[in-house]
Amino acid sequence: MTSSTNIALVTGGTGGIGKEINRRLLADGYKIVAADMTVPEELSGKQDPEQPEGVLLYRMDVRDSESVDACIAFCVSQGRLKTVINCAGLLRHGEIEDVTDDALATVWDVNAAGATRVCRAASPHLTEGASIVNISSITGRVGRMRGGSMYGASKAAMEAFTKYLAVEFAPRGVRVNAVAPGFIAVLPMSPSMRFIAHADNDQDALAWCQAQSPMGRTGRPEEMAGPVAFLVSDDASFITGHVLVADGGVAAV
Ligand SMILES: NC(=O)c1ccc[n+]([C@@H]2O[C@H](COP(=O)([O-])OP(=O)(O)OC[C@H]3O[C@@H](n4cnc5c(N)ncnc54)[C@H](O)[C@@H]3O)[C@@H](O)[C@H]2O)c1
Repeated sequence: MTSSTNIALVTGGTGGIGKEINRRLLADGYKIVAADMTVPEELSGKQDPEQPEGVLLYRMDVRDSESVDACIAFCVSQGRLKTVINCAGLLRHGEIEDVTDDALATVWDVNAAGATRVCRAASPHLTEGASIVNISSITGRVGRMRGGSMYGASKAAMEAFTKYLAVEFAPRGVRVNAVAPGFIAVLPMSPSMRFIAHADNDQDALAWCQAQSPMGRTGRPEEMAGPVAFLVSDDASFITGHVLVADGGVAAV
């Protein structure tokens, strides 16, 4: 490790989309810290045995400030923390009378507050040229996803957070953007995703998702990596406070 090593922290880094972001940013020259609550204790801080050299795993829960702070300390021990991707997230469904306090608290704690905790901890280490990408969702932009109000509202909050932080960080040359995915085929689907998709199995849920898109298909997880890579690159050097919708046209309908 040298001080010229650029570190990209990817929260939710063992998930379907997170893994593809890891792969792409690794190819772009970063050393990756893939932080996730699923990382086994014994692998935390170690090379991911299933990934190419340069992807370190870290066990971290975005609901827990101490865990987040420790993860950021680990990142800066490995090089310059240049990029933070807030990809940790979870989906819970419920039409309004079925919304439980537990689901409500969890969704907001992980999706909205989680990204806030990570950015707060990372902030002192982000210097000119660094950038953040928050992974929101088109459910934060459209109202027609059945039972999606909790999740959609938390993702809309991430987008508002993105704009506020972009303004706060702009004077120091740190950019903050978001990518809003549409329906991305990460299987197996959660019960919440099946509910939103009016289906009780993955096949029917996929068919429903495909039908929502003018392109007639769901996205592939790797199709989220390119937009993220663009936003953190010098090609996007004048872009901040922006939400890049990557949804095959779903939100355009
Ligand atoms: N798949 C889609 O269609 C879709 C659409 C729009 C937005 N998104 C968003 O993209 C991101 C990635 O989703 P995905 O489809 O890869 O799902 P995924 O479940 O495979 O990945 C999410 C990851 O976040 C991790 N995570 C959840 N709670 C956490 C916590 N408290 N602390 C640390 N890690 C935590 C999970 O363990 C998981 O690895 C999420 O933020 C999701 O909301 C996904």
